[in-house]
Amino acid sequence: MEQFARDAIERLTTRPRPVYETIAVDPLTPLLGAEISGLDLSGKLTPEQEKEVKDAFLTHHVLVFRDQNLTPDDHKRFAGLFGPLHPVALAPEDSDPHILEISADKDSRWVAGDGWHADGTADAEPSLGSMLYITRVPEVGSGGDTLFANMHLAHDMLSPSMKTFLDGLTALHNGALPWLRRGQKPPPGYDVPRSEHPVVVRHPDTGRKVLYVNNPYMSQIKQLSRAESTAVLDMLYSHVARTPMLHCRVRWQPNTLVFWDNRCVQHHAVWDYYPHARYGQRVAITGTRPQA
Ligand code: SIN
Repeated sequence: MEQFARDAIERLTTRPRPVYETIAVDPLTPLLGAEISGLDLSGKLTPEQEKEVKDAFLTHHVLVFRDQNLTPDDHKRFAGLFGPLHPVALAPEDSDPHILEISADKDSRWVAGDGWHADGTADAEPSLGSMLYITRVPEVGSGGDTLFANMHLAHDMLSPSMKTFLDGLTALHNGALPWLRRGQKPPPGYDVPRSEHPVVVRHPDTGRKVLYVNNPYMSQIKQLSRAESTAVLDMLYSHVARTPMLHCRVRWQPNTLVFWDNRCVQHHAVWDYYPHARYGQRVAITGTRPQA
């Protein structure tokens, strides 16, 4: 591995970690994700618990809470500690406007999130984070894991020359692309979000740089020709998909809630359980406009 990549990893594995007194934090890997125990999310958190969960979120970016018995109101109350809830696009009229059902079974033709992505980057103010609460796992006994990728580290492991090249570029994110790439049109009445965001942004809470590329929504890097943009983006998508040390993998059990930071993490729902069923509910939190 190149020295600059080793340096990027060393900076993470040797950084000082917060000290926790009200929760237990068990990292999934030295670079991404942690299981949090000692909390019942169906009740109100104390100010100390809330602060420690926020510290753990900014440190590990993907938090896993097991054995939670949550009502939709509990789920939304916990999410609301981090910011305003993000309304579900195209929510059915009779459903809760803030709860997105994540559901797959033998009749599914596709499943949500089956490919590397971050949620909602075509919005002018993309999602801060998502909380997915899975209550039904595939009856085959395994499968339906979610992979996550650390996009801080994806940036930091690039060569200094590539980082200099990407700084200052911007890209177009188009909310219609997921439909267009399936040969379909967005549903009538959908106010398609379209935004231009920097290719490298800074995390609003930590100031750390993030590689802000997102395959399903990004059409083009604005300052490059179409062919150049495709080549650069394909290289970056491949870097994320083919570098296992960027990843952690969450194996779901019923009543697990996972909270991930869409500002610095991508995820990929693995559909390896067809024709079995999996069910959960997701609440998203509105973020702020990404800044270079
Ligand atoms: C998603 O939010 O993309 C779905 C993630 C999952 O089902 O694990």
